[in-house]
Order: sequence, then structure tokens, then C-alpha cells
Amino acid sequence: MDPLRVLIVPGSARTGSFNLKLAHAAGSLLRELGAEPVVSDLRALELPIYDGDLEAAEGVPDGARALLAQFAWAQAVLVVSPEYNAFPPPLLMNAIDWVSRLAEHKAAMNGKPTALLSASPGMLGGIRSLLALRQFLSLNLGMLVLPQQLGVSQANKAFTDDGRLADDKQQQALQGVLSALLKTTRALQG
Ligand SMILES: Cc1cc2nc3c(=O)[nH]c(=O)nc-3n(C[C@H](O)[C@H](O)[C@H](O)COP(=O)(O)O)c2cc1C
Repeated sequence: MDPLRVLIVPGSARTGSFNLKLAHAAGSLLRELGAEPVVSDLRALELPIYDGDLEAAEGVPDGARALLAQFAWAQAVLVVSPEYNAFPPPLLMNAIDWVSRLAEHKAAMNGKPTALLSASPGMLGGIRSLLALRQFLSLNLGMLVLPQQLGVSQANKAFTDDGRLADDKQQQALQGVLSALLKTTRALQG
């Protein structure tokens, strides 16, 4: 059985980002579970804030086409995102807004199994933003967002030096979300 290709999309590219740490922790676990993860870098896409006049004048930026190609490559998607004011951050929303301007996004995103993770130094782990993210990714883009999700609270204390979640229960919860993502993806591949 070929390894399942999983695109991990972190909603933060900040140096020391807890969500980037969680994305890499998830990537290591996915590899242990036999998948092939790739971690995306939204900052490297250098996307301007979406602007209809800019699109009319210059078209959709190359960075959006690059991200679309990553979605098209993937058989499953894992979004790992911070919460800004109880909402997903603009880095993530803006990148996906741009991708949605390309007609090919439907083939690359519609029906694709997707799981959500968040991390925050706060006590709720960013889970309030996952409701909005779930709506954003599923209602219009048609992504198949799994019910399983995880918000890592007190993320400033959550990781070991080697990048794992320090709390065994949290590491198991992460494994549960990732296993559900792989199981659903395999089931859909037939
Ligand atoms: C504009 C802004 C709004 C924020 N709002 C929230 C919030 O609603 N809930 C929360 O748990 N943390 C909030 N935070 C704190 C972030 O969780 C924290 O900065 C976190 O480290 C960002 O994720 P990162 O480490 O992956 O970059 C906010 C941070 C910023 C910059």
C-alpha cells in the first residue's frame, strides 16, 4: 500500500510558532503511521491581501497556484492553526481565498478529507476558531472536515525539547485525530 500523501497547512509561520511545532509533531506521527506528510509554508507564498482590483489587473498570484498544486498533490489535509480573536488568522484565510479564485480548486479541495488542530498559550487551545475554520473549509470549498479535532492549550508548556507533546494524553489525542484522518482517506480511496 502506497503511503497516503498528507498536506499539513500551518496557519502561522512565526519563529517559534506553537502551531508550527504542532504541525511538525503531527508530521512525525503521520510518518510513524505510514503516511507521507509535507508541511506547507504560507509565508513563502508571498501572497498580498486579496484585492479584486489587483486580481483584475494582474491575475491570481503564482503563490496561490503553488498552494493549489500542494492541495492537488495531497490525498488528505491537516490544518494546524492559531486563533486570533476567536477566528482563524488572516495568513491562512487569505491564502485559501486566493486559491479559491482558481477554477481548479474544486478538483483539488472538494471532498478531500481534512482534519483540524490548533494550539494556543490560552486555556481553550484555540478551539473556538476551529468552528469558523470548519465552516470556511466545508460550506463553500466542500472539504470533508472530520469531526475529530484537537486544541492544544497552554502550548507554551506543551512540547518536549524533541518536539513531541509532553502530555501522553494529548499525544494520544493527536494520534487519534491523525488515525481518523488516514482511516477516512483510505476508506474513500476504496
Ligand atoms: C491578533 C491576535 C489575536 C489573538 N487572539 C487570541 C484568541 O482569541 N484566543 C487565543 O487563544 N489566543 C489568541 N491570541 C494569542 C495566540 O494564541 C498566540 O499569539 C499564539 O502564540 C499564536 O500562534 P503561533 O504561536 O502558532 O504563532 C491572539 C494573538 C494575536 C496576535
